[in-house]
Amino acid sequence: MARQTESKLPIDTAALIAASLPMPMLVVGAGQELLFVNPAAEQFFDTGAGLLLKHTLDALIPFGSPLTGLIAQALERGASVGERTLDISTPRHGERIADVMVTPLPEPEGAVIVTLQERSLAQRIDRQLLHRGAVRSMHGMAAVLAHEIKNPLAGIRGAAQLLEEALPDSEKNLTQLICAETDRIRTLIDRMESFGDTRSFPRNPVNIHEVLDRVRKIAETSFARDVTFTEIFDPSLPSVLGDFDQLIQVFLNLVRNASDALPEAGGEITLTTGYRPGVRFGAAVAGERLSLPLEVTVRDNGSGVPADLMPYNFDPFVTTKTYGTGLGLALVAKIIGDHGGVIECDSVPRRTVFRILLPKATEGI
Ligand SMILES: Nc1ncnc2c1ncn2[C@@H]1O[C@H](COP(=O)(O)OP(=O)(O)OP(=O)(O)O)[C@@H](O)[C@H]1O
Ligand SMILES: [Mg+2]
Repeated sequence: MARQTESKLPIDTAALIAASLPMPMLVVGAGQELLFVNPAAEQFFDTGAGLLLKHTLDALIPFGSPLTGLIAQALERGASVGERTLDISTPRHGERIADVMVTPLPEPEGAVIVTLQERSLAQRIDRQLLHRGAVRSMHGMAAVLAHEIKNPLAGIRGAAQLLEEALPDSEKNLTQLICAETDRIRTLIDRMESFGDTRSFPRNPVNIHEVLDRVRKIAETSFARDVTFTEIFDPSLPSVLGDFDQLIQVFLNLVRNASDALPEAGGEITLTTGYRPGVRFGAAVAGERLSLPLEVTVRDNGSGVPADLMPYNFDPFVTTKTYGTGLGLALVAKIIGDHGGVIECDSVPRRTVFRILLPKATEGI
């Protein structure tokens, strides 16, 4: 049984401590009813305390969740039990993975404290490294393919052009089709080759707002003519050290994807930037702590990334589009990785957010 501890603090202060904890904390009664939630838990479940306290735990966690078993175990042993990387995803709150600790309370009888430590960011960073691995393994393949396909392709295209001269007008569409298709394959190969490009590139301080403005202009005059754009920019945003053109490629791909997912009418894309110097991640990236204070998000109110695609949407060749290559997001992840940043995605229908975190220029990469 948990020991009763001496405290020099009054009861109210003890409650204040629970309320101030950065990790979500819930007190669950013997009948699974919620007795207490701290503000971090309200934020985690995206629901106010008033509403949460009317619920039982099973309204918050998926059916058959191991958390129920964990609570029973803690009560039986009369001691804290924990489990790492417990899946507490729900359709309402999306993919959630947390380390969970359950501790029995001396009273009321059968009550436990549940604390959660969300793992998403560290895990997503791990996953990012996997993406980079997948991308790297494409390097050799891309180089071989490029060499073996591009040359004969140029020959096929040239021959089709010669043939075209000898054909009557009514049949020219066939040779034109050959040319158009060879061009498409060439573009695909050019894109794949850019994965193999591991040369370091010149880095200059880049103003992300200029990048976003340019991308917005390109989008508004081409594929996103009927889309309403909103910009919420933080004027204090410092520069990022990087390559202007590559960053254009990143945001153009994200805005293009967002626009593809939008309904015909009422489509909205919101671009936001923010500076969060206090945020540091103790991520296991080369054992170093990451400081990625620049946050840029691309949000859309479109159909959302299909749930079964979510774990793979940064992988190469993953696409749901008839004419998609599935290389857009893989390329985005590579470029952001080359810039020392990370990208993550949260998506439910009507609200898809791609969030990019980048280091600021003076910190070097
Ligand atoms: N904003 C979004 N909303 C909904 N689904 C998205 C969004 N962004 C990406 N996706 C999903 O992720 C998949 C992969 O995107 P990615 O950009 O890598 O390839 P693509 O857009 O299909 O092809 P390409 O970029 O070559 O045209 C898409 O096919 C789509 O299903
Ligand atoms: Mg795309």
